[in-house]
Amino acid sequence: MSRTVYVNGEYLPEEEAKVSIFDRGFLMADGVYEVTSVLGGKLIDFDGHAVRLERSLRELDMAAPVTKDELLAIHRELVARNAIDEGMVYLQITRGSPGDRDFAFPDPAVTPSTIVLFTQNKPGLAANPAANKGIKVISIEDIRWGRRDIKTVQLLYPSMGKMMAKKAGADDAWMVEDGFVTEGTSNNAYIVKGNRIITRALSSDILHGITRAAVLRFAREAQMEVEERSFSIDEAKQADEAFITSASAFVMPVVEIDGAQVGSGTPGRVALRLREIYLDESRKAAV
Ligand code: PDD
Repeated sequence: MSRTVYVNGEYLPEEEAKVSIFDRGFLMADGVYEVTSVLGGKLIDFDGHAVRLERSLRELDMAAPVTKDELLAIHRELVARNAIDEGMVYLQITRGSPGDRDFAFPDPAVTPSTIVLFTQNKPGLAANPAANKGIKVISIEDIRWGRRDIKTVQLLYPSMGKMMAKKAGADDAWMVEDGFVTEGTSNNAYIVKGNRIITRALSSDILHGITRAAVLRFAREAQMEVEERSFSIDEAKQADEAFITSASAFVMPVVEIDGAQVGSGTPGRVALRLREIYLDESRKAAV
């Protein structure tokens, strides 16, 4: 069935939605994005995603084509029109189409940004059976650019990382820089030692995950210890548990790293508890 999508102020059937071949998102990956999950027909952590989007735009001197209230209304309209109960809303804003190719940024007064949103229907997203089994990751070198805190659409290396994982019989890859894990290809990475959750501190080395912020808050509220510091693959292999977080995976246990079993090789108690708390609390706060 054809989706209704949103392009520059219009709701259209996906077949009729068009963006110029000169769009800078297409030619230069000059764009930013957000992925917001939907549970029970409501948006999870919308505010966090909207605030991070504003920051990404600001860091790239890109104009926001819509206000936060308008953005919420568009998200809700798409969820309703596409009858999404569980799934995601993808949002992308690019520096628009100057009508030709040029490295210099176009004048925003002349070239408006392009905004596109579409839904992805994922029935069973919250009850994902992968969470009961856990996922396997491999480690790969992190060769991305230095502003990973900006959520840009430059996703070629993360895509390559997922393919390297697939080829190795794993589900995903953790990226390593200077001997320490930065993050997963599309998620933040954690290990657990006893009652302590360890995850890399925020900097321009990683994306400031919206799910990360919520999960760490819930962990602290549940009296778990949180240590924001870097860890190596060797330390992760010796940990009691490992897991990842993202808007689409929520909290997902990691049971194998580079072929070595983590802990008992089954999803850990802390990861599963955090997944449960995150899903419960986020549903309550959903808009
Ligand atoms: N990815 N790190 C990277 C590199 C990511 O791409 C993502 C999100 C995260 C987690 O951020 P959040 O909790 O805000 O989703 C961390 C999205 C889901 C994606 O590209 O599909």
